[in-house]
Amino acid sequence: MSQPPPSPHFRPVALHHASRLINHGPTVLVSAAHDGRRNIMAAAWSMPVEFTPPRIAVVIDKSTWTRELITASGGFGLIVPGAALMDLTYAVGSESGRDHDKFVHYGIEAGAGPELGMPVLEHGCAAWLECRWIQETRSETAYDTFFGEVVAAAADARIFDNGHWNFTPDNAELHTLHHLGAGKFVVAGNQVQARALTPIVR
Ligand SMILES: Cc1cc2nc3c(=O)[nH]c(=O)nc-3n(C[C@H](O)[C@H](O)[C@H](O)COP(=O)(O)O)c2cc1C
Repeated sequence: MSQPPPSPHFRPVALHHASRLINHGPTVLVSAAHDGRRNIMAAAWSMPVEFTPPRIAVVIDKSTWTRELITASGGFGLIVPGAALMDLTYAVGSESGRDHDKFVHYGIEAGAGPELGMPVLEHGCAAWLECRWIQETRSETAYDTFFGEVVAAAADARIFDNGHWNFTPDNAELHTLHHLGAGKFVVAGNQVQARALTPIVR
């Protein structure tokens, strides 16, 4: 499979900052590949769960094709799509890739993650994380939740730089998506800064 040129705006993210990429609860794309097959789906439920090493959790329904590829390959990608990819995010979350390659179907250009070779997207996306699946004895059958250790991460420096997000009107197409249900999303924006309160001294 030919790879697209990497985005000139993407930079590696230090692993101790990787949790910040999903700390604010963006809808993500979960990707996986195994034995010449690959797939991508949407997931609204993901979160950081451990600092060192950085670990995340993502809920992946037992019926999905993505889940089969993850358990077969031992890895997955978490991609943070920007607002410009809302329709694509909804599309890959509304059909299964079991019978067709969604990358081909929708013309999605994916690169390969540096550690595990999982599909990663850069153009139109704010960030990606590559994760090694943490296999728990009972979890494969008992739970929909998957745990992963982040082994590589990168972000578009126009919106995430030096360990910090910066949502501005200039990078609106990269603002993250937050799913309300049934294809309705809120796009993150209107960044505000909390200030230190002056304590009321009695
Ligand atoms: C915005 C959005 C968010 C979703 N979030 C989740 C989720 O957190 N967990 C999950 O298992 N499925 C979620 N889904 C559904 C899967 O993406 C969907 O079942 C997908 O078709 C599975 O594809 P696959 O069979 O190719 O793996 C979501 C769908 C959409 C549109």
